[in-house]
Order: sequence, then C-alpha cells, then structure tokens
Amino acid sequence: MGIEIHPITAADIPSVADCIQQSFADDPYHIWAFDQRPGKFDKERNLASLRAKCEWGMRNALFYVAKDSDDPSGQVLGVGMWMKPRNATEPETWAEWLDGYLLWFKQGWNLVRYQGRGGLNTKRYWIWKQVQADVQAEIWDDPTGYYFCNIVAVRPGNQGKGIGRKLIELITKTADAEDRKCYLESSKAVPNIAIYEKLGFTVAKKMECEEGGDKIDLYCMFREPRPKSKPKP
Ligand SMILES: CC(C)(COP(=O)(O)OP(=O)(O)OC[C@H]1O[C@@H](n2cnc3c(N)ncnc32)[C@H](O)[C@@H]1OP(=O)(O)O)[C@@H](O)C(=O)NCCC(=O)NCCS
Repeated sequence: MGIEIHPITAADIPSVADCIQQSFADDPYHIWAFDQRPGKFDKERNLASLRAKCEWGMRNALFYVAKDSDDPSGQVLGVGMWMKPRNATEPETWAEWLDGYLLWFKQGWNLVRYQGRGGLNTKRYWIWKQVQADVQAEIWDDPTGYYFCNIVAVRPGNQGKGIGRKLIELITKTADAEDRKCYLESSKAVPNIAIYEKLGFTVAKKMECEEGGDKIDLYCMFREPRPKSKPKP
C-alpha cells in the first residue's frame, strides 16, 4: 500500500464525505448532536451537508486527501482540512464572505430538499458553537493566529497505519517553518489525546457542552512550533 497525499479535487468530494461520515460515526460529539433513535439520523441528508462543507473547504481551506496509489478506484482513505492562520485584526475578504453565504444558502437548500435537518439537534449544535466561541476567545492569545485543524479523519480499518500522521505533519511542518502554532479540538479523549500528543500537541483546556442532562467534553489542544534543527558543524 503506497499512501499518497494530494490536494482535494471536486471528483474526491463524494468519497471524502463518506470517509468523514464513517470516521465520525462513533464520535462523542456526533452521538450527542444527532438524534440516535432508530430512523432519526438521515445518512443521505448528512452526506449532502458534508459535501457542501467540502465544496466550501476546497476554496477556503488547506484541504488534502490520502489515497492508496495502488487502488484504481481512487477511494479516499483519509482527509485533513485546516484553516490558515488569521491575524486577529485581519478582516474577512469579500470572497470569503461570499463563500460563507454560499455555504449557508446550500445548507438552507438541503433543509428544504430533505425536509429537515436529518436528526441534527440544533439546540445542541448552537450550544456547541457558543461554548466553542467562548473558549477560543479565552485561550487564543496569539494575534498572528493558528493553523486550525477543522477536520482530520481516517477511514475505519485504515486507522493506526500512519495516515493521520501524514495528513497532520503536512501542515505542522509548514507551521514549524513559519514559526506558527497549531490548534485542534477533539471530542474523543481515548485514543485521540495520545495520538495528538505524539504529534506534538498538548491539552490546554477541556470544553464542556451540556444539554438535557447529556454532557460531552471536548479537548482543546495546541502545538508549539518546533525550532528548526541547526546543521551540524
Ligand atoms: C484520529 C485519527 C485522525 C488519527 O489517524 P491515524 O491514521 O489513526 O493515526 P496514525 O496511525 O497516523 O498514528 C499517529 C500516531 O499516533 C499513534 N497511535 C495511533 N493509534 C493509537 C492509539 N489507539 N493509541 C495510542 N497511540 C496511537 C501511532 O502509533 C502514531 O505514533 P508513531 O508514529 O509515533 O507510532 C484517526 O484515528 C481517526 O480518523 N479517528 C476517527 C475520527 C476522529 O476522531 N478524528 C479526529 C477528530 S479531532
């Protein structure tokens, strides 16, 4: 198996959405935010929403896919979507604003087309968004911004084989060269904290989301840039 990392293309999007959906099926945030009762989670509706997010990510994020170069089907085995560091004083560009609006419109269209949110508990979604905004306002103190890992996912059955490391190191190497920090949030303590620690991240804060007696913890992790190794004299 020869794993290669490439920038995402439009043709990859269906496989990327499927990879994300499968990788997060047992994720604590997913279980908390989506109705788990039989027949409530609409897989197709969720895939449509993920595809819209991927189309947005193609234009606005550092978005890479991992594939097996020996697999002619081109199935995506892993994905990494990162937001570039943004200076705290840097305003959103018109193109970014327009793309955000386009995503909002597509998600609105999905709402109409699938006649609902496919089991997403919107009250919980907005609780998470608010807690996330509050925590980031509290702990993001570098005005030059962070490489923010928005999505990293490796298809079940392919995890633990070094694909996640490749997808993450692609960005952390750039961050090191630019002397920048990286940031991510994970709702899975085990095994993700141990995995990310191996890649240089440390937990800075536990973020708690609670609704109707159901609570989840998300772990906010930073990675400091590593100094470039000096050539031996
Ligand atoms: C988290 C995830 C992206 C990691 O990708 P992966 O391909 O499984 O990880 P890798 O095989 O590249 O492992 C990276 C490092 O973590 C270690 N590691 C992997 N699985 C581990 C485990 N279960 N326990 C402890 N360490 C582990 C590896 O040994 C490796 O370190 P090494 O290179 O020093 O040996 C992947 O497991 C995944 O998609 N999980 C489900 C979705 C998810 O939780 N996404 C993250 C949301 S924040």
